[in-house]
This record gives sequence, C-alpha cells and structure tokens, in this order.
Amino acid sequence: MADTLTAASARRNAAHGGTLVVTARRDVAQDVVELTLARPGGERLPDWAPGAHIDIVLPDGTTRQYSLLGDRWDAHSFTIAVLREREGRGGSEHIHTRLTAGDTVGFGGPRNNFRLSPAPGYLFVAGGIGITPLMPMVRQAELLGDPWRLLYLGRSRARLAYLDELAQYGERVTVHAADESGRAVIDDWMPDPAVPPVVYACGPERMLDAVDLWAAPLGRHRVRLERFTARGDADRPATVFEVEVASSGAVVTVQKDESIVDALRRVDVDVITSCAQGVCGTCETGVLRGVPDHRDALLSEAERAESRCLYPCISRAVSDRLVLDL
Ligand code: FES
Repeated sequence: MADTLTAASARRNAAHGGTLVVTARRDVAQDVVELTLARPGGERLPDWAPGAHIDIVLPDGTTRQYSLLGDRWDAHSFTIAVLREREGRGGSEHIHTRLTAGDTVGFGGPRNNFRLSPAPGYLFVAGGIGITPLMPMVRQAELLGDPWRLLYLGRSRARLAYLDELAQYGERVTVHAADESGRAVIDDWMPDPAVPPVVYACGPERMLDAVDLWAAPLGRHRVRLERFTARGDADRPATVFEVEVASSGAVVTVQKDESIVDALRRVDVDVITSCAQGVCGTCETGVLRGVPDHRDALLSEAERAESRCLYPCISRAVSDRLVLDL
C-alpha cells in the first residue's frame, strides 16, 4: 500500500517545500536505491546547482538530507540515491523497505552548502554513497570543458553506484575497491601542490579527515568537504550561557543538556530545523554579539573565525551571552 503523509508530517511540511511523489525507483548498487521524485501535479520544481541537497520528510515526520544527483536542467524531477544503513536512525531503512512508486514524501530545500566554484581544475574524491553530490559536479565540469579527475573509493565495485555512467570518462575516473586493491592510502592521490586543483570530497569521516590534511600543503580554500555527520566538536563538554533575541530583547538561559533551538522555544522563538546535527544548514542564524562555540560540520575555519552566523541546533557559546539576529 502506498505510504501517505500523516497530519503531523503535513504540518511539518508547511515549513518545507511541499509534497513529492516517487515516480521511479531502481537499485543502482548493493544497498543503494535511486528515487526519482516529482510534484504530484507535475509542476515545476525549484532550481538547484551541483552540491545541493533536499530534505526528505517521511510519513512519520523523520527528516533526512539527500544530495540531488540528476540532471540540474530537468525542472520537473529530482533524483536522489539512498544507502541502506541498517544500524542508522531508520530513515534509509524506511526508504529501502517501504517506499515505492506512487508514495508521497514531504521535501524542503534545495539548499547548497557545497557549491562548485569556478576553478582551473578539480579533483573529486568520493567514498561510497559520497558520489551523490559529486555526480552533477562531474557533469558540469565536463560540460564546461574544465579539467577534472574523480577518485572513487569503496569496499567493492558492487557497492559503488553509477560505475556504468562514469565508465564513459575513461582514465579520468580512478576506482579503488578495497576487496581488489586493499585499503586505500589517501595520501597516494594528493595533488601536486605546485599546480593544485580544487578538491571536492564527500564520503565517510575517516576518508574526509585524511583529505582534510591536504589543506595544509594545498591551501585551505582548495579543499572542500561535504560531511554526512557532525564533527567530534559535538562531544565537547557543554556549559550554561544566555541567548538574547535581538528583535525583542528576550533573554533565555541555555542549559547544558539542551540546544539553543530548544531554549528559544521557551520564549516562543521557533527556529526551523531539519538535521539537528549541524550538517544541513537549515537553522543558520546571524550572530550580532558574543563568541559562538561552533560545533557544526558546515563552516570553514575562516568562517568560524568570522562568526557571522551559527547553527543553533548544535552550536553553543564560549561567551556568557550571544545576541542572535532573530
Ligand atoms: S538543523 Fe541542520 S544545521 Fe541545524
């Protein structure tokens, strides 16, 4: 039976982009399913650019973020691919076991925290399902005639989606399957610092941490990462601090065991959230005064130093009070 949106999730969707219907579903690798989604009436969808993601709101209200990987010039459908995570929080399991063609889901976005900037050349590094935001980047670089290479890592070829499409690019794509070639040593692929491309990487934390170390020799601005999960910052000890709402002057105390978003609800300020982990960017809020304790996976070191914004679903404060642009 087709899943339909519950009243609760429909309410939640009011703050999102509406409803999508699953128009096609296919397996693209072991434990990876691809979904094509469209408006129920076939209306136009929002524009997006490589690196963008959407929120998918499941019938029970569970919200997850997935990169858009289809044709960005197709204004009437979105394509996402979802890895089945049996030990995950349940979203991917629901999609794999229950969602079929004709079912509806809510959506939010698109948002883009991983934009493809103009550069003389690119090195894309994908680990497993991390290929999803990079597929449109590959197509765009190809379209514009920009030099690019892709390093695509995984446990086995059977688990790597879109190898068929990527085969057309020949030697520009390097596939490293651990069951054939052993564990990858990321530094073996570090670009020449004398003529570095801009690196875009998405995949497991361990791989991203290794790629992040390239920032020292290549330059921080040349290494861009898209993380699926919050960084270890989220585990730092929490302290009590105050948040002031600039528009009303209301002040609320944020206890150690709650987020800024939770505390703000006590003074009737509702910040829209999605991932609640500092990875999607939905809750971005301007900082007018005070020193944030950034715990998200979105801001670069330079942006953290500037502290013009923070992600109140997860970030906290170093100073006794933050004044937020709310
Ligand atoms: S809700 Fe995703 S970053 Fe805050």
